Amino acid sequence: MSAAFTSNEAERPSVLVIDDEPIQRRLARAAIERCGMHVEEATDGASGLEAFERERPDLVLLDVVMPGMDGFTVCTRIRALEPGAGTPVLIMTGLDDTASIERAYECGATDFITKPIRAPILGHRLRYILRSSRAEQALRKSNDQLKNANAELHETRNQLLQSEKMASIGQLAAGVAHEINNPIGYVKSNLGSLESYLQQVFAVIATYEQAHAAIEDPEALQRITAARTSADLEFLAEDVFALMAESREGISRVSKIVQDLKDFSHLGSDDEWARADLHEGLDSTVNIVNNEIRYKAQLVRRYAQLPEIECLPSQLNQVFMNILVNAAHSIESHGTITLTSGVRADEEVWIEISDTGKGIAPEHLNRIFDPFFTTKPVGKGTGLGLSLSYGIVQKHRGRIDVHSEVGRGTTFRVTLPVRQPVAAATR
Ligand SMILES: Nc1ncnc2c1ncn2[C@@H]1O[C@H](COP(=O)(O)OP(=O)(O)OP(=O)(O)O)[C@@H](O)[C@H]1O
Ligand SMILES: [Mg+2]
Repeated sequence: MSAAFTSNEAERPSVLVIDDEPIQRRLARAAIERCGMHVEEATDGASGLEAFERERPDLVLLDVVMPGMDGFTVCTRIRALEPGAGTPVLIMTGLDDTASIERAYECGATDFITKPIRAPILGHRLRYILRSSRAEQALRKSNDQLKNANAELHETRNQLLQSEKMASIGQLAAGVAHEINNPIGYVKSNLGSLESYLQQVFAVIATYEQAHAAIEDPEALQRITAARTSADLEFLAEDVFALMAESREGISRVSKIVQDLKDFSHLGSDDEWARADLHEGLDSTVNIVNNEIRYKAQLVRRYAQLPEIECLPSQLNQVFMNILVNAAHSIESHGTITLTSGVRADEEVWIEISDTGKGIAPEHLNRIFDPFFTTKPVGKGTGLGLSLSYGIVQKHRGRIDVHSEVGRGTTFRVTLPVRQPVAAATR
C-alpha cells in the first residue's frame, strides 16, 4: 500500500502547494512527485485560493507565513468553500511554533508538518492523509447511499401497504357491490310495477267516485264519505306518487354508489382503451364541473406539451372530476385552482391539480383513498371519489401523489405512463 500513486493519470492524486518561497516549493514538488502525485503551485494566498477552486486538488500543502493573505486565512476560506466535504489541508510551520499549530487546527487544518521539509516524511504524511481522506469520503458516500436506500425502502413499504390495503378493500367492495346489486335490481323493478298498479288502483277509485251520486243507500253513502275523509284521499293520491318518485331517486343513488364500487374494484368497465389528449379531457371535465368551481376559484392553467397517452379516457375524466370537485369544496371562500402538466422522458405524463383550500389534516392523509372516508357532512359526500380515482389510476399503472398543508392547500398529482403494455388493451 505504501507504493507510489502512479498507474492511472485520472486517479493520480494532485497536491496544491501554496508557499511564497521558491525553494520551499521546489523541495515540496520534488518530494511530492517522488510519490507519484501531481503538483500545482501557487505563490501566495489569493492565487492559492483561485487555484484551489479551479483545480479542486486532493490535498493542499499550505505555508503559514506569507505576505498578503496568511495560511490561516487561506485555510479558513477553503473550509468555507466546501462545508462538510473537507479537502485535507496540511500546514507547514516552524519547528517549535506551537501557537501556529494550535491556530491552524482551529482554522480547520487536517495536520501539520514542520519545516525544513524532508522528502520521506512529507511523502509518508501525504500518503497517510490521502488514504484516510479517501476512506472518509467512501464512508460518507456509502452512508448517503444507505440513507437514500433507507428512504426508498420506507417509501416502497408505504406504497406496498397502501396497495395491499386497497386490494383488500377492492375485494370487499366488489363483494358488497355484488350482494347489493341483486336486491337493488328487484326493488327498482318492483317500484316500477308498483307505480303502475297504483295508477290503476286510483283509476278504479276515480271511477267509483263518479258513481258516488248513484248510491241510494244513505248509510252506505255516509260510510264511504267518512272513510274517504279519514284517509284524506286527495292528499294520498298526490303523495303516493311523490313518495314513489323519491324512492326511485334513492334507489338510483344507491345504484350509482354500487357502480362506483364496481369501478373501484375494476369490475364492469365497458370503456375502451384509446389514445387521448389529457388536456382535452381535463378541459371538458372542467366545463362539466364549472358550476362547482366558478364561484369559488380562479382557474389557472399551466400546460406543457403532452404526447397523447393510451388510456381509458372517460375513466380518467372521472378522476379529474373527483379531484376538481374536491379542490372546489376545499376552498371556503375564494381561491385558486391551478392545473399544471408535464412529461418525463417521453414515458410518463403528469397532471397536477392544486388548490389553495383548507388542506388535509396529516392524520387523514393515509385514509383519503379509503372508500367511504369523508370529512363532509352526511349527504354531501359519499367518500368514494378518491377511492374510485385510485382504482382507475392503478388500472392505468399510474399513481396518485398528494401533498397537502393545512391552511395552505393541497396538490394532487396523477402520473400516467404514455404507453400501456399490450395486455392492458385486452383487459
Ligand atoms: N383538495 C382537497 N382538500 C382538502 N381535503 C380534501 C381534498 N381532496 C380530498 N380531501 C379529503 O378527502 C376526503 C375524501 O375525498 P373523496 O373525494 O374520496 O370523498 P368526498 O369528496 O368526501 O365524497 P365524494 O367524492 O364521494 O362526494 C374528503 O372528504 C376530504 O376530507
Ligand atoms: Mg370527492
